[in-house]
Amino acid sequence: MTEALLTARRSIAIAITGASGALYATRTMAALLERGCHLEVIISDYGKRLLRDELGDKAAPDKLFDYLAATYGEPVRQGTYTLYSNKDLGARIASGSQDCEAMVVVPCSMKTLAGIAHGLSRNLVERAADVMLKERRTLIIVPRETPMSLPQLRNMVLCAESGAMLLPAMPAFYQMPKTLDDLSDFIAGKILGALGFSHALYPSWRG
Ligand SMILES: Cc1cc2nc3c(=O)[nH]c(=O)nc-3n(C[C@H](O)[C@H](O)[C@H](O)COP(=O)(O)O)c2cc1C
Repeated sequence: MTEALLTARRSIAIAITGASGALYATRTMAALLERGCHLEVIISDYGKRLLRDELGDKAAPDKLFDYLAATYGEPVRQGTYTLYSNKDLGARIASGSQDCEAMVVVPCSMKTLAGIAHGLSRNLVERAADVMLKERRTLIIVPRETPMSLPQLRNMVLCAESGAMLLPAMPAFYQMPKTLDDLSDFIAGKILGALGFSHALYPSWRG
């Protein structure tokens, strides 16, 4: 392996879609940025609405990096961040020739889940996810809906059969969470673990 590869930032795509749980996305992004990752970020129209509805105007896409630093601390600035339009099917991450090693769709709406399951590539979120599957790279889908219909359950199976990891937004309560941050730390910790990062976002289970 060359020195350039050894020292390169890990490049990870983050897609935020219109399912509830914007906090899961911001906590995950902050934890990856603190670790010096480069994030390729796509936010669907309803993802933008969820950021605003759940976190306020200060978390608007054009202010998100500053929001993350203000909320989670300056170490977030150790990472880098590129924001893409969801309409830009010519973006770098729409191609398998780019170096983005993994993608997390957090939170993932049932609509985007369906689009990924059926390989529709109607927008950049769906296309970048399709690229991850066809290139056999890591795709982590964090669905949030309850209850779920049979088509939604089948779409999760289709994604799992194609190689994606389904990591539902289901925080555990055995860690005795006290705050919303405790809940989002748990899901972000699960995502970081799935990406191969060590973390202390929640205490490990000691039996
Ligand atoms: C306030 C709000 C909350 C929503 N929560 C969810 C949700 O938790 N899960 C889901 O699948 N869809 C949810 N939706 C519906 C999606 O946003 C909608 O299907 C949208 O078309 C998804 O588009 P996208 O996947 O391109 O973001 C919600 C919509 C709104 C306005």
